[in-house]
Amino acid sequence: MPVPRVVHSVRQLRGDVADARSAGRTIGLVPTMGALHEGHLSLVKAAREQCDTTIVTIFVNPTQFGPHEDFDRYPRTMERDLQLLSQVGTDIVFAPDRPTIFPEGFSTYVEPPAVAQRWEGECRPGHFRGVTTVVLKLFNLVGADVAFFGQKDFQQARVIQCMVDDLAVPVSVRVCPTVRESDGLALSSRNRYLDDAQRSRALALWNSLLAAKQLVERGERQARSVCDRMRQRLIESGVDRIDYAALVDPVTLQPVERVQQRTVAIVAAVVGPTRLIDNLEIEPGPI
Ligand code: PAF
Repeated sequence: MPVPRVVHSVRQLRGDVADARSAGRTIGLVPTMGALHEGHLSLVKAAREQCDTTIVTIFVNPTQFGPHEDFDRYPRTMERDLQLLSQVGTDIVFAPDRPTIFPEGFSTYVEPPAVAQRWEGECRPGHFRGVTTVVLKLFNLVGADVAFFGQKDFQQARVIQCMVDDLAVPVSVRVCPTVRESDGLALSSRNRYLDDAQRSRALALWNSLLAAKQLVERGERQARSVCDRMRQRLIESGVDRIDYAALVDPVTLQPVERVQQRTVAIVAAVVGPTRLIDNLEIEPGPI
């Protein structure tokens, strides 16, 4: 597997991209904030399968964290990240410092699309403004053919797809399935904040999603009943706060009243000091 070439400057990055382009290679981009896990590696593997050159970016984006969020303690594990990327094979790692992305005087931001308004948008004001701004900048810097994101951040993937459509950004967005532990816990860089007891409680998110799916499969069509069951599961398992537990339309992200077609159950809750999100697609079968 190729050991990634690590570049820090825009000049180096653009040089490498130009070389790949002149060799007729397609480029796959995997934007990350580091603290990599199997979920990220599945995106890198997809990029390697679908594109000739794989570029992973590692940048903990300050503008997508709220003032009381975990920017300062967000895990920074560059050496381990590079080892993992060598194992799966990555051509280039772009790891800019803060002034490279947000130089002195930076003042232009993306106004996120409508699908950003609810859920994470409500709970984390400014979050998607930061995400869309940095992702658009990375798109502009790399000029990739395809960019890979995880289904785990379902709303983020939808927000980025809408931005790409609305602003005619010349990149295809691919969304890859959530990677889970064997007991169902969705992989997340923030899982490393959890101690054993909190990790057990964190499973409540997945269990609440499974409960929603089962209820719909048994014929329940009232979203309110399904959401009540999700909340009940979360409370029983002792999460410390529920931010939302909802059934939404997969395109508009508006809450549905009845589960008539493909729907996504979404959940966000706090366990100890850690805020977690998860989601599951639900397809109502015939009753
Ligand atoms: O999903 C993430 O890790 C981040 O939101 C992203 C897309 C890398 C932007 O900073």
